[in-house]
This record gives sequence, structure tokens and C-alpha cells, in this order.
Amino acid sequence: MSDTKKFDVVVIGGGPGGYIAAIRAAQLGFQVACIDEWKNEKGGPAPGGTCTNVGCIPSKALLQSSEHFEHAGHAFKEHGIDVAGLSLNLPQMLKRKKTVVDQNNQGILFLFKKNKVSFFHGRGSFAGAADGGYTINVAGASNETLQTKHVVVATGSNARELPGAPFDEKVILSNDGALAIDAVPANLGVIGAGVIGLEMGSVWRRLGAKVTVLEGLPTFLGAVDEQIAKEAHKLFTKQGLAISLGCKIGKITNDGKSVTVEYADDKGAEQKAVFDKLIISIGRVPNTIGLNGDAVGLKLDERGFVVVDDECKTNLPNVWAVGDVVRGPMLAHKAEEEGVAVAERIAGQHGHVNFNTIPWVIYTSPEIAWVGKTEQALKAEGRAYKAGTFPFMANGRARALGDTSGMVKFLADATTDEILGVHIVGPMASELISEAVVAMEFRASSEDIARICHAHPSLSEATKEAALAVDKRSLNF
Ligand code: FAD
Ligand code: NAI
Repeated sequence: MSDTKKFDVVVIGGGPGGYIAAIRAAQLGFQVACIDEWKNEKGGPAPGGTCTNVGCIPSKALLQSSEHFEHAGHAFKEHGIDVAGLSLNLPQMLKRKKTVVDQNNQGILFLFKKNKVSFFHGRGSFAGAADGGYTINVAGASNETLQTKHVVVATGSNARELPGAPFDEKVILSNDGALAIDAVPANLGVIGAGVIGLEMGSVWRRLGAKVTVLEGLPTFLGAVDEQIAKEAHKLFTKQGLAISLGCKIGKITNDGKSVTVEYADDKGAEQKAVFDKLIISIGRVPNTIGLNGDAVGLKLDERGFVVVDDECKTNLPNVWAVGDVVRGPMLAHKAEEEGVAVAERIAGQHGHVNFNTIPWVIYTSPEIAWVGKTEQALKAEGRAYKAGTFPFMANGRARALGDTSGMVKFLADATTDEILGVHIVGPMASELISEAVVAMEFRASSEDIARICHAHPSLSEATKEAALAVDKRSLNF
């Protein structure tokens, strides 16, 4: 065992919540360590967490590659580009995905060096409280003991298993296996029509799989604005994703080569489906395995989340927690914002995260993005509102792109005109939503957006037109 190393802040977990907290704390002048246990295939460090290794980054790499493949097969023809002899090189597609992931891992290691964050590759665990701070053990390539005043827990989340259907990552897949299938399955089943189910289902459908999605709830994308969800459901079905709602999943049998799912459909009729592979994407659970929080009395709730207040303070003095391991949306940018806010609070500043303006994006094609309240939520609150929509069909840039599906929808307060929510299904919704986030952060009205000059021709004109539509004065529809 080497000598105890002393820090001001030790961050456990090097995902978006942890590595960003570490960098911000170092910028603020603290001596900072970040511990992360993720290994690449050579056993070396791979910081970046779920997001970089088996989440945001590799999924977007495959979404992009598979979209190119689909476009080359169909959409290019309309543009007058004939592609002869089109074929899929899946090993190359997976290799490219890995390169993108590796670049991100290396980028984070570089940022740690640049900001003088000490990185420890291994598992971090609480050993006890001592001298007005905490002792943290690192078990990894070398075993270390760290002494620190502040601890930031950023240990993330893991995929939730269905009872009786453990992930083997060969036939029954979590997000991990879903991103690494080495041959396109003829028949792919997905349980859960949430964000992962739709994104990964889209990837493998585009590459040639017949994809069946079994969803437990009777409504499609219940958290999304109903009008937008309906439009998306229609578009995905047209693309060939077979989505069955209201399914009650029963016995799942994995024979090592295929998997049989027994379920009751929305009419209660018993069904049986056989798949080559089955992705189970029914949500994620917080990860505190190996943290040894009991050694210091770290409080978890009944679902295993670390209990925190609005400022990410745990029940222990100077122990903070951020990201997927605490309440709130499981999103990389939410984790990052909490990481920055915690570092600033440690420095005595007033770190701030506005939960009302956290954007959501589903990277399907078309993309779905939203911020703020849905129409059904405003109705349930009894809040008086005005709505304006604008279809991409009427947007010149969308027509030039050949991607005219979907719409932009604005919801504004009936009296003050303050923007309450913006919902988009359509091309580049992930980029377009930022304007709405900025507007809401500044508490803008729909009139503010309607009076701002937007470049022509651009998809963002659909945003302006939807804002104009709130007052029934859109110009191009
Ligand atoms: P994680 O990223 O889970 O990082 C936690 C890290 O801590 C891991 O590296 C883990 O190994 C390490 N760790 C855990 N315990 C210990 C310990 N005791 N000692 C040392 N290290 C430890 N979000 C988006 O915003 N946009 C997206 O497009 C998006 N796509 C996604 C796609 C998929 C398939 C999945 C699964 C998730 C996606 N997410 C996306 C969600 C996003 O990945 C998470 O919200 C985000 O990674 C949470 O960050 P975090 O830092 O809290 O935790
Ligand atoms: P999810 O919460 O998005 O969707 C889970 C779906 O499974 C829901 O529709 C739910 O009703 C359904 N479900 C739950 N139990 C079921 C059961 N027993 N039978 C059938 N259906 C069932 O969770 P998902 O897709 O696993 O993703 C986890 C999280 O990861 C997301 O909530 C999100 O926070 C994050 N993520 C974000 C992405 C993004 O920002 N683009 C992309 C992928 C993941």
C-alpha cells in the first residue's frame, strides 16, 4: 500500500457528471482526484462512463452510420444519385464506432492532464471518515489511499433487468450488447419503447433487421407531447418498426441461440414471439455497487438512488452526488450541469441547475426534441395556454433536404405569452431545440421568437413560424 495522498476533492466516477465536476473543481483551484474503473478491451482506462463507452457516443455513431446506409439505399435516388452495389460492412461500422469512443476516452484523459486532475484507474470506495474528511480506497492497477475533505459521488447507472431474463449480452442484450451485435439479426425483439428501444431499434432496422418493439404502457412515449408522440408513432410505423403497445410480458426463454417471449397483447390475447436477439430497454437503475457507502452511512432511497437535496448535498457533510445516481432525468447534460454546480458550491459560489429547461432529445429519424411542459401537462394543471404549430412540409430548407416530416410546436401562456414548452419532431430537432432552451432560460415570449430574424432558408425558420402561429399569423402556412 502506498502513502496516503491528500486532496481537496475526490470524485468517484468518471462519466459526464464526474469528469466535468473534477475539471470544474480543478479550474476553481482545488487539488482534485477522479477515480474511474471503466476498462477498455486492453484493460486500460476508459473514462467517460456509460455515455462515452456504451451510451450517447457509440449509439450516435451507429445511428449516423446506419442512417447513411439507409439514405444510400433509398433517399439518394431521389437526389439523382444512383448507388450501385451497395453493401454493408458491419465490422467496419463497429470499428468506426470504437474509434469514436476511443477518441473520447483519450480526450478526457488529456483534459485531466491539462487541468491537473489526478486520475486513478480502479474502484473507489469509502473506507471511513477521518480528520474532518473522508478516506477513500482505490482498488485497481495499484491500490491507493486518498484523504479528502469533499467527495463527489458520480457512479452512474446500469441497465434494469427483467426478472427471469438476465442479460447474457449474446441473445438477451442490454444497451451494451445492443451496440455490439456482430451480424445483423433477421428478427430483433425489443422490450420497452423508450429512448434506447427506439434509437437501437432504428439502428438495426436500417441495417436490415425486422424489428418488433413490445411496450408495456398503452400509450406511446407517454412523457412526450401527445401530438408529437402521435406523429412520431405514425412515422416510425411507416418506416417498418412494428410497435405493440399495452403488452404484458410473461415468460422469456433463452436457449442460447434464440429467445422466445410470451406476452399478452393489448386485448389480453396470449402471444408468443421468437427472436434471434432481444434488447431489453426498460429503464436504468442507480449504481452504488462497490462504493461501500455503509462505511460512512451514506443514505440511499428505497430504489437505490443516493438521497440528495436540491443542491446535490447528501446526508453526509461535504459528500455530494450528481448524475444518474441521484433523482431527476438520466441525461448526460443534466449530470454535467450538476457536476459544475457542485464544484462551484464547494468553492462557495452559487451553482445553479434549472430543471425546467433541461432539453430531451431522441435521436431517431426524424429526431424528437422538447423542453418545458407538454400540452397534456398544461391541461392537467388547468393552465390557460395558446398553441402554435408549423409543419416542416412548409419549410423550404426541409424540402431542399428532402426531409419534410414532422413539425415544431410552441406552447405559450395565454395571458403573458411566456413560452411554456417547445416540442419538435423533425430533421435536426436536436440542434433546433437549443433556441427554445435559450428563449425559456431568458423567459422569452413567443412574440420574442416571432420577431427575431432567422436565416433563410433554414430549418430554424420553422421555429419562428411556430412562434408566429401562436398568434395565428404564420406567414408560410
Ligand atoms: P455514468 O456515465 O454512468 O458514469 C459513471 C462512471 O462511474 C462509470 O464509468 C463507472 O464505471 C464509474 N464507477 C461506478 N462506480 C465506481 C466506483 N465505485 N469506483 C470507480 N468508478 C466507478 N444521455 C444523453 O444526454 N444523450 C444521449 O444521447 C444519451 N444516449 C444514451 C444512450 C444509451 C444507450 C444509454 C444507456 C444512455 C444514454 N444517455 C444519454 C444517458 C447517459 O449516458 C447518462 O445519463 C450519463 O452517462 C450519466 O452520467 P453519470 O456521470 O451520472 O454516470
Ligand atoms: P426509458 O425509461 O426511456 O424507456 C423504458 C420503456 O420501457 C418505457 O416506455 C416503459 O414504459 C417500458 N417498460 C418498462 N417496464 C416494462 C415492461 N416490464 N414491459 C414492457 N415495457 C416496459 O428507458 P430506456 O430506454 O431503457 O433508457 C434509459 C434511460 O437512458 C432513458 O430514460 C434516458 O434517460 C437515457 N437515454 C437517453 C438517451 C437520449 O438522451 N437520447 C438515449 C438513450 C438513453
